[in-house]
Amino acid sequence: MNGFSPRVAVIGAGTMGHGIAYVAAVAGCEVRITDARRAALPQALDKIEALLLGGVKRGKLAADEHAAVRKRISAEPQLREAVADVDIVVEAIVEDLALKQRLFAEVERAAPPGALLASNTSSLSIGQIAAGLTEPGRLVGMHFFNPVVVMKLVEVVTHGRESGPAAERAVEFARRLGKEPIVVRDSPGFASSRLGVVLGLEAMRMLEQDVASAEDIDKAMELGYNHPMAIADYLHATLGKPQYEPPKILREKVKKGELGKKSGKGFYTWSD
Ligand SMILES: NC(=O)c1ccc[n+]([C@@H]2O[C@H](COP(=O)([O-])OP(=O)(O)OC[C@H]3O[C@@H](n4cnc5c(N)ncnc54)[C@H](O)[C@@H]3O)[C@@H](O)[C@H]2O)c1
Repeated sequence: MNGFSPRVAVIGAGTMGHGIAYVAAVAGCEVRITDARRAALPQALDKIEALLLGGVKRGKLAADEHAAVRKRISAEPQLREAVADVDIVVEAIVEDLALKQRLFAEVERAAPPGALLASNTSSLSIGQIAAGLTEPGRLVGMHFFNPVVVMKLVEVVTHGRESGPAAERAVEFARRLGKEPIVVRDSPGFASSRLGVVLGLEAMRMLEQDVASAEDIDKAMELGYNHPMAIADYLHATLGKPQYEPPKILREKVKKGELGKKSGKGFYTWSD
């Protein structure tokens, strides 16, 4: 990868996918973005356009770079076409193990044999996602954070069966995108969620015990950890430690569909 900009396919044009496509194109990569839902592609391009305009406005991007970056990104509805001649495939589809396994089986057939395969899963086992591949060693985790354009950290997740320099290539690619990669062994919650969930759940227990208001707990933490309960339940089941047990207040909110920003209500109320 030295010196030249890798060609990148991003699969899944949602919250994470459009951000990854944007940072890769800004870093000089040719990027193809694809999605099973056709309408997601123009929406992602609109969001990328907004990021470009924001970048220019904030002086992060020279005005004449705008058109060049935009030109490096294309939307391709067909998965096979999207991955056909790329060096790196980054998957950012929904968090579903069976779907990711099925997707990578197809990607493995359609992408060039030397292409690095990366999953942006935030909680699933990379080893399990790779398990069905003919060459599981091609796949690593590349866990970006939301919003991708702002967040510096990328967890490169290894599962012990990587062949050759897969993890090093992922580290190098993350650096090329201006990110700070860390290498983490495939284990539930990787490094960041395993720590972040404990903080988030403890903040909820503090709220439950009337220690402080949600706003003040957030201020005290300085960071807005707000992981969905699914991760807490999963970590509790897999790590079996009491600190991961979802508190009652969280279970009730999830039961009521109060899922935070995306549902407009959670520990706060959001309006558009
Ligand atoms: N949102 C976050 O804060 C965040 C942070 C880090 C990692 N992640 C991970 O990134 C991944 C994507 O999350 P998101 O928040 O961007 O989701 P999202 O729902 O915003 O986007 C997912 C996109 O994938 C598409 N998709 C679903 N199945 C597909 C398939 N089989 N083939 C192609 N496209 C398909 C959907 O149409 C959708 O546009 C998940 O694995 C998630 O765990 C999310």
